[in-house]
Amino acid sequence: MRDRAIIVLAAGKGTRMKSRLLKVLHPLGGKPILSHIMDTIQPLAERKMIVVGYQAHMVEESLSREGFSFIHQERQLGTGDALLSCKENLEDFQGIVMVLSGDVPLLRRETLIDLLQEHQREGRGATLVTMILENPKGYGRIIRDSKGDFVAIREERDATQEESLIKEVNGGIYCFEREPLFKALEKIHPGNEQGEYYLTDVFSLFIEEGLSCSTFQIGDPAEVMGINHRLHLAQAERELRRRINKRHLLAGVMMMDPSNTYIEEGVVIGMDTVIHPNTFLKGETVIGERSSIGPQTTIIDSHIGDEVTIDNSVVKESLIESNTIIGPYAHIRPGSRVVSRAKVGNFVEIKNSCIDEGSKVSHLTYVGDTLVGPGSNIGAGTVIANYDGEKKHRTTIGAGSFLGSNCTLVAPLTLGEGARVGAGAVVTKDVRPNTLVIGVPATEYVVKREGHNNP
Ligand code: UD1
Ligand code: MG
Repeated sequence: MRDRAIIVLAAGKGTRMKSRLLKVLHPLGGKPILSHIMDTIQPLAERKMIVVGYQAHMVEESLSREGFSFIHQERQLGTGDALLSCKENLEDFQGIVMVLSGDVPLLRRETLIDLLQEHQREGRGATLVTMILENPKGYGRIIRDSKGDFVAIREERDATQEESLIKEVNGGIYCFEREPLFKALEKIHPGNEQGEYYLTDVFSLFIEEGLSCSTFQIGDPAEVMGINHRLHLAQAERELRRRINKRHLLAGVMMMDPSNTYIEEGVVIGMDTVIHPNTFLKGETVIGERSSIGPQTTIIDSHIGDEVTIDNSVVKESLIESNTIIGPYAHIRPGSRVVSRAKVGNFVEIKNSCIDEGSKVSHLTYVGDTLVGPGSNIGAGTVIANYDGEKKHRTTIGAGSFLGSNCTLVAPLTLGEGARVGAGAVVTKDVRPNTLVIGVPATEYVVKREGHNNP
Protein backbone atom coordinates (compact mmCIF):
# COMPACT_ATOMS: atom_id res chain seq x y z
CA MET A 1 0.00 0.00 0.00
CA ARG A 2 1.20 3.49 -0.83
CA ASP A 3 1.28 6.29 1.72
CA ARG A 4 -1.96 8.11 2.28
CA ALA A 5 -2.93 11.47 3.63
CA ILE A 6 -6.53 12.34 4.41
CA ILE A 7 -7.92 15.85 4.34
CA VAL A 8 -11.34 16.68 5.78
CA LEU A 9 -12.83 19.99 4.65
CA ALA A 10 -14.65 21.59 7.54
CA ALA A 11 -14.01 25.32 7.36
CA GLY A 12 -17.41 26.40 6.10
CA LYS A 13 -19.90 28.00 8.44
CA GLY A 14 -22.82 25.89 7.37
CA THR A 15 -25.11 28.87 6.83
CA ARG A 16 -27.98 26.62 5.79
CA MET A 17 -28.14 25.10 9.29
CA LYS A 18 -29.44 28.47 10.56
CA SER A 19 -27.60 28.08 13.85
CA ARG A 20 -25.04 29.87 15.98
CA LEU A 21 -23.25 26.55 16.31
CA LEU A 22 -20.88 25.52 13.55
CA LYS A 23 -22.37 22.84 11.30
CA VAL A 24 -19.78 20.13 11.91
CA LEU A 25 -20.16 20.51 15.68
CA HIS A 26 -23.88 19.75 15.67
CA PRO A 27 -24.55 16.47 17.47
CA LEU A 28 -25.50 13.39 15.50
CA GLY A 29 -26.14 10.19 17.44
CA GLY A 30 -24.68 11.83 20.54
CA LYS A 31 -21.39 13.14 19.12
CA PRO A 32 -20.40 15.98 16.77
CA ILE A 33 -20.91 15.37 13.05
CA LEU A 34 -17.18 15.79 12.43
CA SER A 35 -16.10 13.27 15.05
CA HIS A 36 -17.98 10.53 13.18
CA ILE A 37 -15.67 11.16 10.24
CA MET A 38 -12.61 11.34 12.49
CA ASP A 39 -13.49 7.94 13.98
CA THR A 40 -14.02 6.44 10.53
CA ILE A 41 -10.69 7.61 9.10
CA GLN A 42 -8.63 7.15 12.28
CA PRO A 43 -6.76 4.00 11.18
CA LEU A 44 -6.71 4.72 7.45
CA ALA A 45 -3.77 7.12 7.20
CA GLU A 46 -0.75 8.39 9.07
CA ARG A 47 -1.46 12.00 8.22
CA LYS A 48 -4.90 13.36 8.85
CA MET A 49 -5.68 17.04 8.38
CA ILE A 50 -8.83 18.94 9.12
CA VAL A 51 -9.30 22.25 7.36
CA VAL A 52 -10.94 24.67 9.77
CA GLY A 53 -11.86 28.31 9.45
CA TYR A 54 -15.10 29.54 10.85
CA GLN A 55 -15.04 29.06 14.68
CA ALA A 56 -11.74 27.19 14.21
CA HIS A 57 -10.81 27.42 17.87
CA MET A 58 -14.04 25.68 18.88
CA VAL A 59 -13.41 22.77 16.54
CA GLU A 60 -9.84 22.43 17.78
CA GLU A 61 -10.81 22.66 21.41
CA SER A 62 -13.57 20.13 21.27
CA LEU A 63 -12.14 17.66 18.78
CA SER A 64 -8.35 17.73 18.96
CA ARG A 65 -6.82 14.28 19.23
CA GLU A 66 -3.67 12.45 18.34
CA GLY A 67 -2.90 11.91 14.68
CA PHE A 68 -4.96 14.87 13.48
CA SER A 69 -3.69 18.33 12.62
CA PHE A 70 -5.80 21.40 12.02
CA ILE A 71 -5.09 23.60 9.01
CA HIS A 72 -6.50 27.12 8.91
CA GLN A 73 -8.24 28.39 5.84
CA GLU A 74 -8.09 32.16 6.21
CA ARG A 75 -11.22 33.00 4.28
CA GLN A 76 -13.87 30.58 3.12
CA LEU A 77 -13.39 31.04 -0.59
CA GLY A 78 -14.65 27.59 -1.57
CA THR A 79 -13.74 23.92 -1.38
CA GLY A 80 -10.87 24.33 -3.88
CA ASP A 81 -9.27 27.04 -1.78
CA ALA A 82 -9.80 24.94 1.37
CA LEU A 83 -7.85 22.06 -0.14
CA LEU A 84 -5.12 24.37 -1.42
CA SER A 85 -4.51 25.56 2.14
CA CYS A 86 -3.00 22.10 2.86
CA LYS A 87 -0.39 22.39 0.12
CA GLU A 88 2.54 23.35 2.34
CA ASN A 89 1.84 20.56 4.78
CA LEU A 90 2.10 18.03 1.98
CA GLU A 91 5.19 19.36 0.14
CA ASP A 92 7.22 16.31 1.18
CA PHE A 93 4.42 13.81 0.71
CA GLN A 94 4.35 11.26 -2.11
CA GLY A 95 1.17 9.23 -2.08
CA ILE A 96 -2.58 9.27 -2.33
CA VAL A 97 -4.44 12.29 -1.00
CA MET A 98 -7.96 11.38 0.06
CA VAL A 99 -10.39 14.25 0.50
CA LEU A 100 -13.62 14.14 2.48
CA SER A 101 -16.18 16.69 3.54
CA GLY A 102 -16.76 17.40 7.19
CA ASP A 103 -20.49 17.23 6.60
CA VAL A 104 -20.69 13.64 5.24
CA PRO A 105 -20.67 11.61 8.47
CA LEU A 106 -22.32 8.31 7.54
CA LEU A 107 -19.53 7.00 5.35
CA ARG A 108 -18.35 3.54 6.26
CA ARG A 109 -14.66 2.74 6.62
CA GLU A 110 -15.03 -0.27 4.29
CA THR A 111 -16.21 2.03 1.51
CA LEU A 112 -13.14 4.25 1.91
CA ILE A 113 -10.84 1.23 1.86
CA ASP A 114 -12.49 0.00 -1.37
CA LEU A 115 -12.11 3.47 -2.86
CA LEU A 116 -8.42 3.69 -1.96
CA GLN A 117 -7.76 0.22 -3.32
CA GLU A 118 -9.52 0.88 -6.61
CA HIS A 119 -7.74 4.22 -7.08
CA GLN A 120 -4.37 2.60 -6.50
CA ARG A 121 -5.06 -0.55 -8.51
CA GLU A 122 -6.19 1.41 -11.56
CA GLY A 123 -3.29 3.87 -11.30
CA ARG A 124 -5.55 6.87 -11.73
CA GLY A 125 -4.92 10.57 -11.35
CA ALA A 126 -8.21 10.98 -9.50
CA THR A 127 -11.19 8.92 -8.37
CA LEU A 128 -14.43 10.39 -7.10
CA VAL A 129 -17.36 8.83 -5.30
CA THR A 130 -20.71 9.18 -7.03
CA MET A 131 -24.20 7.92 -6.39
CA ILE A 132 -27.56 7.84 -8.12
CA LEU A 133 -30.25 9.88 -6.39
CA GLU A 134 -33.92 10.03 -7.28
CA ASN A 135 -33.82 13.58 -5.97
CA PRO A 136 -30.37 14.98 -6.80
CA LYS A 137 -31.16 18.45 -5.50
CA GLY A 138 -28.26 20.33 -3.93
CA TYR A 139 -25.48 18.09 -5.25
CA GLY A 140 -22.97 18.58 -8.06
CA ARG A 141 -24.00 16.61 -11.16
CA ILE A 142 -21.74 14.12 -12.94
CA ILE A 143 -21.30 15.03 -16.59
CA ARG A 144 -20.38 12.22 -19.00
CA ASP A 145 -19.56 12.28 -22.72
CA SER A 146 -21.35 10.32 -25.44
CA LYS A 147 -19.22 7.25 -24.62
CA GLY A 148 -20.29 7.47 -21.00
CA ASP A 149 -16.86 8.57 -19.76
CA PHE A 150 -16.74 11.01 -16.88
CA VAL A 151 -15.75 14.50 -18.03
CA ALA A 152 -16.73 17.04 -15.35
CA ILE A 153 -18.75 17.95 -12.27
CA ARG A 154 -21.30 20.72 -12.63
CA GLU A 155 -22.49 22.43 -9.47
CA GLU A 156 -26.25 22.74 -9.31
CA ARG A 157 -26.23 26.53 -9.42
CA ASP A 158 -24.20 26.46 -12.64
CA ALA A 159 -26.04 23.58 -14.32
CA THR A 160 -28.22 23.97 -17.38
CA GLN A 161 -31.78 22.74 -17.11
CA GLU A 162 -30.82 19.58 -18.95
CA GLU A 163 -27.80 18.96 -16.71
CA SER A 164 -29.85 19.45 -13.58
CA LEU A 165 -31.95 16.41 -14.56
CA ILE A 166 -28.88 14.16 -14.18
CA LYS A 167 -29.34 11.81 -11.26
CA GLU A 168 -25.74 10.78 -10.80
CA VAL A 169 -24.20 13.16 -8.28
CA ASN A 170 -20.86 13.94 -6.67
CA GLY A 171 -20.52 12.51 -3.17
CA GLY A 172 -17.73 14.95 -2.25
CA ILE A 173 -15.22 12.16 -1.52
CA TYR A 174 -12.12 11.87 -3.63
CA CYS A 175 -8.70 10.28 -4.09
CA PHE A 176 -6.00 12.27 -5.87
CA GLU A 177 -2.36 12.03 -6.81
CA ARG A 178 -0.73 14.85 -4.87
CA GLU A 179 1.34 16.54 -7.54
CA PRO A 180 -1.30 17.11 -10.25
CA LEU A 181 -3.86 17.94 -7.55
CA PHE A 182 -2.04 21.00 -6.24
CA LYS A 183 -1.02 22.05 -9.75
CA ALA A 184 -4.67 21.99 -10.81
CA LEU A 185 -5.89 23.73 -7.66
CA GLU A 186 -3.61 26.65 -8.44
CA LYS A 187 -5.24 26.99 -11.83
CA ILE A 188 -8.93 27.02 -10.90
CA HIS A 189 -10.73 30.36 -10.82
CA PRO A 190 -13.97 31.47 -9.21
CA GLY A 191 -15.85 32.13 -12.45
CA ASN A 192 -19.05 30.53 -11.23
CA GLU A 193 -22.38 31.65 -9.85
CA GLN A 194 -21.13 31.65 -6.23
CA GLY A 195 -17.79 33.28 -7.02
CA GLU A 196 -16.02 30.45 -5.17
CA TYR A 197 -13.00 28.30 -5.92
CA TYR A 198 -14.61 24.94 -6.62
CA LEU A 199 -12.57 21.85 -5.88
CA THR A 200 -14.81 20.10 -8.37
CA ASP A 201 -13.23 22.11 -11.21
CA VAL A 202 -9.95 20.21 -10.93
CA PHE A 203 -11.39 17.21 -12.74
CA SER A 204 -11.67 18.85 -16.15
CA LEU A 205 -8.10 20.11 -15.70
CA PHE A 206 -6.92 16.57 -14.91
CA ILE A 207 -8.66 15.29 -18.03
CA GLU A 208 -7.13 18.06 -20.15
CA GLU A 209 -3.72 16.98 -18.90
CA GLY A 210 -4.50 13.44 -19.99
CA LEU A 211 -4.65 12.05 -16.45
CA SER A 212 -7.15 9.31 -15.90
CA CYS A 213 -10.17 10.23 -13.76
CA SER A 214 -12.94 7.89 -12.94
CA THR A 215 -15.96 7.48 -10.73
CA PHE A 216 -16.55 5.03 -7.90
CA GLN A 217 -20.28 4.56 -7.66
CA ILE A 218 -21.67 3.43 -4.37
CA GLY A 219 -24.95 1.63 -3.89
CA ASP A 220 -26.19 3.09 -0.65
CA PRO A 221 -26.72 6.82 -1.11
CA ALA A 222 -27.31 7.30 2.63
CA GLU A 223 -23.60 6.79 3.15
CA VAL A 224 -22.64 9.88 1.22
CA MET A 225 -25.48 12.04 2.33
CA GLY A 226 -24.19 15.55 2.97
CA ILE A 227 -25.68 17.43 5.88
CA ASN A 228 -26.47 20.94 4.75
CA HIS A 229 -29.52 21.82 6.83
CA ARG A 230 -31.46 20.50 9.78
CA LEU A 231 -33.78 18.36 7.71
CA HIS A 232 -30.68 16.49 6.49
CA LEU A 233 -29.48 16.21 10.07
CA ALA A 234 -32.75 14.62 11.14
CA GLN A 235 -32.56 12.23 8.18
CA ALA A 236 -28.98 11.30 9.09
CA GLU A 237 -30.05 10.73 12.68
CA ARG A 238 -32.74 8.33 11.47
CA GLU A 239 -30.32 6.50 9.20
CA LEU A 240 -27.74 6.14 11.97
CA ARG A 241 -30.43 4.81 14.30
CA ARG A 242 -31.56 2.33 11.66
CA ARG A 243 -28.00 1.00 11.27
CA ILE A 244 -27.32 0.74 15.00
CA ASN A 245 -30.66 -0.89 15.81
CA LYS A 246 -30.32 -3.33 12.94
CA ARG A 247 -26.98 -4.47 14.35
CA HIS A 248 -28.48 -5.05 17.82
CA LEU A 249 -31.55 -6.83 16.43
CA LEU A 250 -29.37 -9.20 14.44
CA ALA A 251 -27.31 -9.84 17.57
CA GLY A 252 -30.34 -11.03 19.53
CA VAL A 253 -31.63 -7.86 21.20
CA MET A 254 -35.39 -7.43 21.12
CA MET A 255 -36.91 -4.07 20.20
CA MET A 256 -40.61 -3.53 19.97
CA ASP A 257 -40.30 -0.40 17.85
CA PRO A 258 -36.77 0.19 16.48
CA SER A 259 -37.72 3.51 14.93
CA ASN A 260 -38.47 4.87 18.39
CA THR A 261 -35.51 3.37 20.22
CA TYR A 262 -32.47 5.61 20.54
CA ILE A 263 -29.17 3.83 21.08
CA GLU A 264 -25.79 5.50 20.70
CA GLU A 265 -23.02 3.84 18.79
CA GLY A 266 -20.80 2.45 21.55
CA VAL A 267 -23.57 0.89 23.66
CA VAL A 268 -23.32 -2.87 24.29
CA ILE A 269 -26.47 -4.95 24.89
CA GLY A 270 -26.69 -8.65 25.75
CA MET A 271 -28.87 -11.31 24.13
CA ASP A 272 -32.59 -11.56 24.88
CA THR A 273 -32.71 -8.14 26.46
CA VAL A 274 -35.83 -6.19 25.49
CA ILE A 275 -35.59 -2.47 24.81
CA HIS A 276 -39.02 -0.86 24.95
CA PRO A 277 -39.93 2.27 22.96
CA ASN A 278 -38.76 5.79 23.75
CA THR A 279 -35.69 4.53 25.49
CA PHE A 280 -32.37 6.37 25.16
CA LEU A 281 -29.16 4.42 25.77
CA LYS A 282 -26.16 6.71 25.70
CA GLY A 283 -22.40 6.93 26.08
CA GLU A 284 -20.47 3.99 27.44
CA THR A 285 -23.47 2.00 28.58
CA VAL A 286 -23.30 -1.78 28.83
CA ILE A 287 -26.44 -3.88 29.42
CA GLY A 288 -26.45 -7.59 30.21
CA GLU A 289 -28.72 -10.39 29.04
CA ARG A 290 -32.45 -10.97 29.58
CA SER A 291 -33.03 -7.50 30.97
CA SER A 292 -36.06 -5.34 30.27
CA ILE A 293 -35.33 -1.67 29.68
CA GLY A 294 -38.00 1.00 29.21
CA PRO A 295 -40.35 2.24 28.05
CA GLN A 296 -39.38 5.92 28.49
CA THR A 297 -36.01 5.23 30.06
CA THR A 298 -32.70 7.06 29.73
CA ILE A 299 -29.44 5.33 30.64
CA ILE A 300 -26.17 7.22 30.37
CA ASP A 301 -22.66 5.81 30.90
CA SER A 302 -23.89 3.01 33.15
CA HIS A 303 -23.43 -0.71 33.59
CA ILE A 304 -26.58 -2.80 33.89
CA GLY A 305 -26.45 -6.51 34.75
CA ASP A 306 -28.51 -9.51 33.64
CA GLU A 307 -32.23 -9.86 34.32
CA VAL A 308 -32.64 -6.27 35.40
CA THR A 309 -35.93 -4.41 34.98
CA ILE A 310 -35.72 -0.66 34.50
CA ASP A 311 -39.05 0.99 33.80
CA ASN A 312 -39.70 4.69 33.07
CA SER A 313 -36.50 5.75 34.80
CA VAL A 314 -33.27 7.70 34.42
CA VAL A 315 -29.90 6.13 35.28
CA LYS A 316 -26.63 8.03 34.98
CA GLU A 317 -23.02 6.93 35.65
CA SER A 318 -24.11 4.10 37.90
CA LEU A 319 -23.85 0.36 38.32
CA ILE A 320 -27.07 -1.63 38.44
CA GLU A 321 -26.26 -5.25 39.22
CA SER A 322 -28.11 -8.36 38.09
CA ASN A 323 -31.62 -9.27 39.23
CA THR A 324 -32.57 -5.81 40.39
CA ILE A 325 -35.70 -3.76 39.77
CA ILE A 326 -35.59 -0.02 39.09
CA GLY A 327 -38.72 2.10 38.78
CA PRO A 328 -41.17 2.90 37.55
CA TYR A 329 -40.14 6.55 37.83
CA ALA A 330 -36.81 6.24 39.61
CA HIS A 331 -33.83 8.56 39.18
CA ILE A 332 -30.43 6.99 39.78
CA ARG A 333 -27.80 9.72 39.79
CA PRO A 334 -24.02 9.45 39.30
CA GLY A 335 -21.90 7.31 41.58
CA SER A 336 -24.65 4.90 42.60
CA ARG A 337 -24.59 1.14 42.86
CA VAL A 338 -27.64 -1.07 43.22
CA VAL A 339 -26.46 -4.54 44.25
CA SER A 340 -28.15 -7.74 43.12
CA ARG A 341 -31.72 -8.48 44.22
CA ALA A 342 -32.18 -4.91 45.48
CA LYS A 343 -35.17 -2.83 44.48
CA VAL A 344 -35.49 0.91 43.87
CA GLY A 345 -39.13 1.72 43.33
CA ASN A 346 -41.55 4.49 42.42
CA PHE A 347 -40.45 8.11 42.69
CA VAL A 348 -37.16 7.31 44.37
CA GLU A 349 -33.99 9.34 43.85
CA ILE A 350 -30.63 7.75 44.60
CA LYS A 351 -27.42 9.80 44.42
CA ASN A 352 -23.85 8.64 45.02
CA SER A 353 -25.13 5.79 47.17
CA CYS A 354 -25.00 2.04 47.41
CA ILE A 355 -28.15 0.02 47.92
CA ASP A 356 -26.66 -3.29 48.99
CA GLU A 357 -27.85 -6.78 48.21
CA GLY A 358 -31.54 -7.46 48.62
CA SER A 359 -32.36 -4.04 50.11
CA LYS A 360 -35.57 -2.26 49.24
CA VAL A 361 -36.18 1.45 48.72
CA SER A 362 -39.62 1.12 47.29
CA HIS A 363 -41.45 4.44 47.37
CA LEU A 364 -41.04 8.24 47.41
CA THR A 365 -37.56 8.40 48.90
CA TYR A 366 -34.33 10.39 48.58
CA VAL A 367 -31.09 8.57 49.33
CA GLY A 368 -27.93 10.67 48.92
CA ASP A 369 -24.29 9.91 49.88
CA THR A 370 -25.44 6.81 51.73
CA LEU A 371 -24.45 3.22 52.13
CA VAL A 372 -27.56 1.13 52.73
CA GLY A 373 -26.39 -2.23 54.10
CA PRO A 374 -27.71 -5.52 52.71
CA GLY A 375 -31.18 -6.77 53.55
CA SER A 376 -32.46 -3.39 54.72
CA ASN A 377 -35.80 -1.74 54.13
CA ILE A 378 -36.20 2.00 53.71
CA GLY A 379 -39.79 3.07 54.35
CA ALA A 380 -41.87 5.20 52.02
CA GLY A 381 -41.18 8.90 52.12
CA THR A 382 -37.80 8.62 53.85
CA VAL A 383 -35.34 11.42 53.19
CA ILE A 384 -31.62 11.40 53.85
CA ALA A 385 -30.84 15.03 54.72
CA ASN A 386 -27.27 14.95 53.40
CA TYR A 387 -26.71 18.68 52.87
CA ASP A 388 -26.37 21.22 55.66
CA GLY A 389 -26.33 24.19 53.34
CA GLU A 390 -22.55 24.12 52.98
CA LYS A 391 -21.34 20.54 52.88
CA LYS A 392 -22.61 17.13 51.89
CA HIS A 393 -22.34 14.46 54.60
CA ARG A 394 -22.37 10.68 54.48
CA THR A 395 -24.75 8.22 56.08
CA THR A 396 -24.20 4.54 56.75
CA ILE A 397 -27.12 2.25 57.44
CA GLY A 398 -26.13 -1.14 58.83
CA ALA A 399 -27.17 -4.49 57.38
CA GLY A 400 -30.69 -5.66 58.10
CA SER A 401 -31.94 -2.24 59.21
CA PHE A 402 -35.58 -1.29 59.01
CA LEU A 403 -36.74 2.31 58.59
CA GLY A 404 -40.44 3.05 58.89
CA SER A 405 -42.30 5.47 56.65
CA ASN A 406 -41.44 9.12 56.46
CA CYS A 407 -38.16 9.12 58.40
CA THR A 408 -35.60 11.90 58.07
CA LEU A 409 -31.96 10.99 58.65
CA VAL A 410 -29.81 14.07 59.26
CA ALA A 411 -26.29 13.29 58.04
CA PRO A 412 -23.57 12.59 59.06
CA LEU A 413 -24.98 9.49 60.65
CA THR A 414 -24.24 5.86 61.28
CA LEU A 415 -27.00 3.37 62.02
CA GLY A 416 -25.69 0.08 63.39
CA GLU A 417 -26.69 -3.32 62.04
CA GLY A 418 -30.30 -4.23 62.65
CA ALA A 419 -31.24 -0.66 63.58
CA ARG A 420 -34.94 0.16 63.57
CA VAL A 421 -36.36 3.62 63.08
CA GLY A 422 -40.01 4.35 63.85
CA ALA A 423 -42.29 6.06 61.34
CA GLY A 424 -41.85 9.82 61.21
CA ALA A 425 -38.63 9.87 63.26
CA VAL A 426 -36.05 12.59 62.71
CA VAL A 427 -32.70 10.93 63.41
CA THR A 428 -29.92 13.33 64.37
CA LYS A 429 -27.59 11.02 66.33
CA ASP A 430 -25.97 7.68 65.51
CA VAL A 431 -28.05 4.62 66.31
CA ARG A 432 -26.52 1.60 68.05
CA PRO A 433 -26.88 -1.85 66.48
CA ASN A 434 -30.17 -3.67 67.01
CA THR A 435 -31.70 -0.58 68.61
CA LEU A 436 -35.03 1.10 67.96
CA VAL A 437 -35.25 4.89 67.82
CA ILE A 438 -38.46 6.90 67.56
CA GLY A 439 -39.72 10.46 67.69
CA VAL A 440 -38.39 13.93 66.97
CA PRO A 441 -35.49 14.07 67.58
CA ALA A 442 -35.28 10.30 67.56
CA THR A 443 -34.36 8.67 70.88
CA GLU A 444 -33.83 5.10 71.91
CA TYR A 445 -36.94 3.21 72.75
CA VAL A 446 -36.68 0.07 74.86
CA VAL A 447 -39.57 -2.33 74.55
CA LYS A 448 -40.95 -3.45 77.95
CA ARG A 449 -41.87 -7.04 77.93
CA GLU A 450 -43.62 -8.96 80.70
CA GLY A 451 -41.35 -11.10 82.85
CA HIS A 452 -38.36 -8.86 82.18
CA ASN A 453 -37.10 -6.11 84.41
CA ASN A 454 -36.44 -3.45 81.90
CA PRO A 455 -35.64 -0.07 83.40
C1 UD1 B 1 -20.03 19.98 -2.32
C2 UD1 B 1 -19.58 19.78 -3.78
C3 UD1 B 1 -20.72 19.09 -4.54
C4 UD1 B 1 -21.06 17.77 -3.87
C5 UD1 B 1 -21.37 17.97 -2.39
C6 UD1 B 1 -21.48 16.63 -1.70
C7 UD1 B 1 -18.08 21.64 -4.30
C8 UD1 B 1 -17.93 22.93 -5.00
N1 UD1 B 1 -19.27 21.04 -4.39
O1 UD1 B 1 -21.14 20.86 -2.34
O2 UD1 B 1 -20.31 18.83 -5.88
O3 UD1 B 1 -22.16 17.18 -4.54
O4 UD1 B 1 -20.33 18.72 -1.73
O5 UD1 B 1 -21.85 16.75 -0.36
O6 UD1 B 1 -17.14 21.15 -3.72
N2 UD1 B 1 -15.68 24.05 3.00
C9 UD1 B 1 -14.47 24.57 3.45
N3 UD1 B 1 -14.08 25.80 2.99
C10 UD1 B 1 -14.83 26.51 2.11
C11 UD1 B 1 -16.05 25.95 1.67
C12 UD1 B 1 -16.45 24.73 2.13
O7 UD1 B 1 -13.76 23.96 4.24
O8 UD1 B 1 -14.39 27.61 1.73
C13 UD1 B 1 -16.09 22.73 3.55
C14 UD1 B 1 -17.42 22.80 4.26
O9 UD1 B 1 -17.23 23.07 5.63
C15 UD1 B 1 -18.01 21.41 4.02
C16 UD1 B 1 -17.36 20.96 2.72
O10 UD1 B 1 -16.26 21.84 2.48
O11 UD1 B 1 -17.69 20.51 5.04
C17 UD1 B 1 -18.33 21.02 1.55
O12 UD1 B 1 -18.84 22.34 1.45
P1 UD1 B 1 -20.38 22.62 1.21
O13 UD1 B 1 -20.59 24.08 1.20
O14 UD1 B 1 -21.22 21.79 2.08
O15 UD1 B 1 -20.48 22.13 -0.31
P2 UD1 B 1 -21.78 21.56 -1.02
O16 UD1 B 1 -22.58 22.71 -1.49
O17 UD1 B 1 -22.44 20.56 -0.17
MG1 MG C 1 -22.33 20.02 1.80
